[in-house]
Amino acid sequence: MTTLQDSFGRNIEYLRLSVTDRCDLRCSYCIPQGFHGFETPEHWLTFDEIERVVAVFARLGVARIRLTGGEPLTRPRIADLAQRLCALPGVSDLSLSTNATLLSRYADDLFAAGVSRLNVSLDSLDAPRLAGITGRDCLAHILDGLTAAKQAGFAPIKINMVVLGGENEHEVESMVEFCMEHGFILRLIETMPMGDSGRNARYVNLQAVRQRLQQRFGLIDGVVSGGGPARYLRSVDGGFSLGFITPISQHFCATCNRVRLSADGTLYLCLGQEDTLDLRSLLRAGITDAGLQAAICEAIARKPERHEFKEQPNKIVRIMSQTGG
Ligand code: 5AD
Ligand code: SF4
Repeated sequence: MTTLQDSFGRNIEYLRLSVTDRCDLRCSYCIPQGFHGFETPEHWLTFDEIERVVAVFARLGVARIRLTGGEPLTRPRIADLAQRLCALPGVSDLSLSTNATLLSRYADDLFAAGVSRLNVSLDSLDAPRLAGITGRDCLAHILDGLTAAKQAGFAPIKINMVVLGGENEHEVESMVEFCMEHGFILRLIETMPMGDSGRNARYVNLQAVRQRLQQRFGLIDGVVSGGGPARYLRSVDGGFSLGFITPISQHFCATCNRVRLSADGTLYLCLGQEDTLDLRSLLRAGITDAGLQAAICEAIARKPERHEFKEQPNKIVRIMSQTGG
């Protein structure tokens, strides 16, 4: 097996795969209300096309895949896709990021298909406030989804909370308590200036929040496997972990190990840059597997060193759900 290395010596071993740019929510920092720029479904990679691309990545040493969106559970027959990807030689870890509104319906099928890890976005435990952020009264469905996921056997489950100034900033303590009680890993996320929606979100620097929570809950430095950018604290007994994803206050580009494939088959080499490879055109023009492999290697060699969210906050026009969160 080959390994994929970029021009900065970083090994690329993780693919985030968006199966749709659509979502049943409209989180204020992500998809603007009334947004009409969704990709036409004819441009979505088919399951056959996705399977081909993932098989090539897996042969290049990319053993870990995450299904994401938009909201991946809105793509019909998503558990079938999960099962097909898990069966590919070289794929050792398939995970999924979801807003959990539809999770109670799909948890058992996803677990049976071989999805091993689950991340759930949840920005508030206060129903009206969550409705204010997401545009929909959805807390009860999400909590049902979390219960179903636990019952299905997913463990550990990670909760992702985007911290928004003046909105849910003061709810981080209650979210910590909720996650401690339910055995969830919590990750707090800084907003990124992706699209006007991301730029207009009230950014909170999480370094001070980290200190506050560390003291309040008596947390110590910790590690959680998963290979992602979060930096962790944990409880002394190890029963609870709290991660911080801080693309702005402390970026982690030097250890970046991933690329993203959007629903329309565009390979994004960096979340915060415009460098891409149009895999859909290559696939639909009848490229061979060897050709695909060469094109992917050539693209990885072009992976940018880092995002410039701080230096050039107006650069990225696309919203998160178009790239794959
Ligand atoms: N900044 C930070 N996180 C974002 N997400 C969506 N848009 C942004 C943004 N502008 C997150 C969601 C979810 C994942 C899909 O991406 O909250 O956790
Ligand atoms: Fe949907 Fe996630 Fe974007 Fe919210 S952040 S609108 S749940 S894709």
